[in-house]
Amino acid sequence: MLILQLTDFHAVAEGKLVGGVDTRLAFTQLLRSVAQLDPRPDMIVVSGDVGDDGTDAEYAFVAAGLRGLGVPFVVVPGNHDLREPLRRAFSEEMGRAASHLAFQRHIGGVRIIGLDTLVEGHAHGALSDEQLHWLEKELNDTGTKPTLIVMHHPPCQTGIPSMDAIGLRLGREWLMELLERRADILGILSGHVHRAIFTRLAQIPVVIAPSATYQFALDFVRTGVFEIVQEPPQLMLHQISEGKDAITSYLVPA
Ligand SMILES: [Fe+2]
Repeated sequence: MLILQLTDFHAVAEGKLVGGVDTRLAFTQLLRSVAQLDPRPDMIVVSGDVGDDGTDAEYAFVAAGLRGLGVPFVVVPGNHDLREPLRRAFSEEMGRAASHLAFQRHIGGVRIIGLDTLVEGHAHGALSDEQLHWLEKELNDTGTKPTLIVMHHPPCQTGIPSMDAIGLRLGREWLMELLERRADILGILSGHVHRAIFTRLAQIPVVIAPSATYQFALDFVRTGVFEIVQEPPQLMLHQISEGKDAITSYLVPA
């Protein structure tokens, strides 16, 4: 099974730029690249920062584009997003709890769990106790099943100080307690960093996908610096093996 991960569109209103980048145009071009994928992905997971300002107009623009691809998709929020407008645009593609947008979906024998790390008004992320209780129950109720976790903020350090300063601040230990004792977690898919990073936590592979519209410099030294660099928008394909016990990830320039 082939899963396409797209992340960090940062879509804006018409005529607006993000750090000099026309993310709206980049998203439109991205859709063309995705439409040409052969074979077509079975599902698209969007790992947050759908819009840059979190407006209804941004989400309507992205929702229309994604729906036009004709591939089922799911969405988790990023730090630039806002829950209520997201809910309005993606009611079918995210969870519906009162306090978070986490969800569980099943496709082709694989369970996809989306987590909501958004702390509105802040760049860092958190997993609330309520959400972690929800996750524990969901995992227990549905038993053992090959599982992908999707969350905007990666649950690990990146080694990039600017990013680690706005990382997942709450819930990381509890999350890992829930995941690391299981043998059915194929991987954790994140975004947020605007760079490709591959690591693991416990025995679980963690894939941080680069942005589908623009990248930040790889800077191991400075903090508070988010320098946009001339690197192509990228998408990430994840192939789930026939036996559904492993994930193989492919980075593809858009
Ligand atoms: Fe982000």
